[in-house]
Amino acid sequence: MTTKKYTVITGASSGIGKESARAFARRNKNLLLIARREEQLLQLKQAIQAENPQIDVQLYPTDLSVIQSIEPLFEKLSVYELETWINNAGFGMYGELATNDIEMIESMLHLNIEALTLLSTLFVKKYRNTSGTQLINVSSAGGYTIVPTAIIYCATKFFVSAFTEGLADELKTTGAKMQAKVLAPAATKTEFGKVANQAESYDYDQAFGTYHTSQEMAQFLLQLYDSQQTVGYINRDSFTFELSQGRLPSAAGSTNNQKLK
Ligand SMILES: NC(=O)c1ccc[n+]([C@@H]2O[C@H](COP(=O)([O-])OP(=O)(O)OC[C@H]3O[C@@H](n4cnc5c(N)ncnc54)[C@H](OP(=O)(O)O)[C@@H]3O)[C@@H](O)[C@H]2O)c1
Repeated sequence: MTTKKYTVITGASSGIGKESARAFARRNKNLLLIARREEQLLQLKQAIQAENPQIDVQLYPTDLSVIQSIEPLFEKLSVYELETWINNAGFGMYGELATNDIEMIESMLHLNIEALTLLSTLFVKKYRNTSGTQLINVSSAGGYTIVPTAIIYCATKFFVSAFTEGLADELKTTGAKMQAKVLAPAATKTEFGKVANQAESYDYDQAFGTYHTSQEMAQFLLQLYDSQQTVGYINRDSFTFELSQGRLPSAAGSTNNQKLK
């Protein structure tokens, strides 16, 4: 077991995950990077180590939509001491439900919901009582508002928001040392638009007009990381970044909850 501490980032081969890896490396954080495309991960590792040769960067190319690979992956990472886990890998799909591709739906449910939940749970089981640990799950502004023509994607992100806000409360009320947080980006210029539209190319200027860059989103992620707040949310209208303790209704404190003993 090495004494170095590591930050895990899923979906680090492009977009928000890639820029977040760079941003955490500039904070001298050692990195464990996960995505399917090994070549892109390798290029990122080389770029990070060219800037800061002290940083240890290890690559774990994995298809996280294959649920059977989740536990073996976590087991492989047991040789490292983990400090932060960022579940960022995810994708969207535009179009009316009746036109949505079934295989893509399956893959999206596996990745956006199941992989994120299982990886979060494995991390929480092992590290919830370790000081300084954080779990950050990437949701979306569409995880708080239903966006037309992206209803399955939004539903997966509502799951991410609800699961992570609920977990954040549970960790606080049980006195755990880990913090759980949600980052909810709005339109951000990445490969997301291309993937969600199954297009060869995608023009964010034409599609949105207003958007953040992935570098800006990585800085918002760091602000959330540095804060004691639970949710970092991009307002879809003003594009401002809002930190809060939570955005969803909660039954914490209700007298009508199940009473155990
Ligand atoms: N961009 C936006 O407008 C926006 C807005 C709100 C929320 N988000 C969320 O932000 C997160 C990052 O997305 P992004 O915008 O940075 O998009 P992106 O550039 O397409 O990056 C997505 C990342 O997820 C990885 N990924 C996709 N499928 C995977 C799989 N089966 N197994 C492992 N890794 C997989 C991709 O790597 P490989 O292809 O190499 O596997 C890539 O590294 C997502 O959760 C997305 O839902 C994005």
